[in-house]
Amino acid sequence: MILRHFFLFLSHNRPLRHWMETSPLSEKFTRRFVAGETLDDALGVVEALEREKIHTTLDHLGENVTSLEEAAASRDAYLEAQSRIARLPATVSIKLTQFGLDFSEDACLQNVRALAGGARRHNSRVEIDMESSAYTDRTLAITEKIAGEFSCARAVIQAYLKRSAADIDRLNSLKIPVRLCKGAYDEPPEVAFAEKRVVDRNYVVLMKTLLDHGAYPAIATHDELIVGEAFCYARERKIAPDRFEFQMLYGIRRDLQKRIVDLGYTLRLYVPYGTAWYPYFMRRLAERPANVVFLMRNLFR
Ligand code: FDA
Repeated sequence: MILRHFFLFLSHNRPLRHWMETSPLSEKFTRRFVAGETLDDALGVVEALEREKIHTTLDHLGENVTSLEEAAASRDAYLEAQSRIARLPATVSIKLTQFGLDFSEDACLQNVRALAGGARRHNSRVEIDMESSAYTDRTLAITEKIAGEFSCARAVIQAYLKRSAADIDRLNSLKIPVRLCKGAYDEPPEVAFAEKRVVDRNYVVLMKTLLDHGAYPAIATHDELIVGEAFCYARERKIAPDRFEFQMLYGIRRDLQKRIVDLGYTLRLYVPYGTAWYPYFMRRLAERPANVVFLMRNLFR
């Protein structure tokens, strides 16, 4: 727990970020979790995964941009990615702070609209990641607006937030698909459950609500026990495999990924690419500090 807070604290450290992202060793740091620096690198990974019957959602790394010009550049990078994956059953995942939310909700909404228009044309989806609780209300408001206008948005709900059961009921009533994850940010105890076992228990409760009443939910976890619980619950309630999907992060629990696909369930991997990898990478270390050992091994190899 202390290490989790430590890595999440470091995820905001600008000098360390600059040093790591510009280091000649950067590829060695990121290789396990990031598909590469360019869209071509990411497309290579997406196509290889498709051959293994694994779908993908592309994340052009970047968050908390520092100007609306940067936000527009992110939107354009995503539009290009979207047009290059149009022939595949792939989606894109975005963070609203990368689309300008810190500067103007209106400009952010316009940027997301451009992408949602593309998703509708390509019969795809825009998955709107959930960031820290400072953004939850604004993110859900924009997600609901986009879903209402384009019917191709997926919301993300974090099981560690105490408010999530109510948010899921609302999204279910609006027939907005939800990706359920545990939550990756450092949150105060007023808004989030602190104990892992409480978060895990809440995840299972929310997952069952989504499987029963959700519109094509995504069960996003690498937790083997929870994935097993999803299999059992779906079988028990006769929920067909095409009514939901599993999602996981690129590079994590490949054994479990293969098992899910072999059992005939749909799996979508979250595939990040780009040069602004530092905050994403630090959150992956926070989730599993033992990853530092792999990292060190790579560095010294
Ligand atoms: P948990 O952390 O309990 O891990 C269960 C097991 O999975 C571990 O024992 C280990 O084996 C493996 N594992 C988990 N993390 C690992 C890691 N980093 N390295 C190696 N092994 C690891 N969060 C958020 O706040 N907003 C969001 O929008 C998203 N989006 C998102 C999309 C997708 C597709 C996924 C899978 C996850 C997210 N997340 C997220 C991240 C999520 O909130 C959470 O931090 C991670 O998924 C880790 O939690 P688990 O559910 O895997 O469980």
